[in-house]
Amino acid sequence: MKDEKNLQTSVFASERVLKPSPEDVIPQKPTPAEIAYQMVKEETYPQTNPMLNLATFVTTYMDEYATKLMNEAININYIDETEYPRVAVINGKCINILANLWNTPEKRKWKTGAVGIGSSEACMLGGIAAWLRWKKRRIAQGKPYDKPNFVISSGMQVVWEKFSQLWQVEMRQVPISREHITLDPHLALQHCDENTICIVPIQGVTWTGLNDDVEELNDALDEYNARTGYEIPIHVDAASGGFILPFLNPHKKWDFRLKWVLSISTSGHKYGLVYPGLGWVIWKDRKYLPDDMNFSVNYLGAEISQVGLNFSRPGAQILGQYYNYIRLGFEGYKAIQHNCLEIAKYIWGEIAKFPQFHNYAKEVVNPLFIWHLDEEYDKSAKWTLYDLQDKLKQSGWMIPAYTLPKSLEDIVVMRVVVKQGFTRDMADMMLADMRAAVAELEQLKFPTTSRIAYEKQEQQKGKVFTH
Ligand SMILES: Cc1ncc(COP(=O)(O)O)c(C=O)c1O
Repeated sequence: MKDEKNLQTSVFASERVLKPSPEDVIPQKPTPAEIAYQMVKEETYPQTNPMLNLATFVTTYMDEYATKLMNEAININYIDETEYPRVAVINGKCINILANLWNTPEKRKWKTGAVGIGSSEACMLGGIAAWLRWKKRRIAQGKPYDKPNFVISSGMQVVWEKFSQLWQVEMRQVPISREHITLDPHLALQHCDENTICIVPIQGVTWTGLNDDVEELNDALDEYNARTGYEIPIHVDAASGGFILPFLNPHKKWDFRLKWVLSISTSGHKYGLVYPGLGWVIWKDRKYLPDDMNFSVNYLGAEISQVGLNFSRPGAQILGQYYNYIRLGFEGYKAIQHNCLEIAKYIWGEIAKFPQFHNYAKEVVNPLFIWHLDEEYDKSAKWTLYDLQDKLKQSGWMIPAYTLPKSLEDIVVMRVVVKQGFTRDMADMMLADMRAAVAELEQLKFPTTSRIAYEKQEQQKGKVFTH
């Protein structure tokens, strides 16, 4: 038998295919590139096909030119601005474009913002800036600054828990409930005090796909700040919505047109339509970015500010974002987001026809939505949405089931996120697989293990089941 030392060896004729891949210790000897490639590649085969992954918000399709451009920049480290100054300039242009899409009032040539590895880094930077601004004001007033807090709905993404833990800023969660399915501005204000560094409404709530009402919050906050003398600002976590609202709902005020919105973050790798990892944070004006966070560089024809948690980071995504702006333009982005929303609405309509299901919200405002088992049906069902998730996996679809956050945690929901690359035909295929899966589950004579566990837990809270 040939082995890998022989350059003529074909991959599957090599001895390597008979050996397990390394798990704990680096192999003693090198492996030919073709074989090493195959070994790594095949480990990825059993995974979900990204195009069928309706769980992720993150881009799974870019066109060939975008892919080529990004692959060609794979060896570019963004932080090496001296070596790759044009990447830094392109980054500045991307920040300008986004700031203007969000109606920044800033007059400078280079708007104030930063690139991040995703929304998480962008949210952190927005939160840190709010915290440092608050701290500076407290010091100037001769007041203590050891108990900062921020206010957010219980529909927050885990990044805000990280922000709270890592920077020791208390997180005050406003519960979302059956009555208030998004952040209730008046309840939010009840959670505020002199130590509140900011309130964080979300555009494209991870759990539900809905938008908090930033304008209503801003108005209530304006009155509150005037009454109390506080200067509590808003940071908008627009991880998904930041790239949807400007195109599909440009008249809706959620951005820098509102007085107290001082910073906004988003994911370039979600509806910015770039492969992972890319996030952006923009401040309304340079004065809202504390100097301590701002590392200025002056070799770009102007002073531009550089802010970030990471030092090294890939440059390719920045080129991908800029490519998208040029390739798609406003009209192109609008058409893609429109199509995603239309397909989400179509699926939503079809889900509504299942007697077993109930859509959580009355409308689809972003290209993602959730549904749950119909309350009556749930009383006698022999399966849960976790079983449906498993069944759909058998046909390749990843459609997650999960429980809603605190105060709604008894509701098990299922979510689809429609992204570029998901067509009406694919939606029909997915729906056909779902109908078949539900029909199979309907045939069950005995409850599934997930059903038994669910009922046991809910019975303890007093829920009654009828079988
Ligand atoms: C509302 C919200 N904020 C923040 C994040 C974190 O984003 P990223 O994965 O880009 O770090 C997400 C991710 O889903 C999100 O939905």
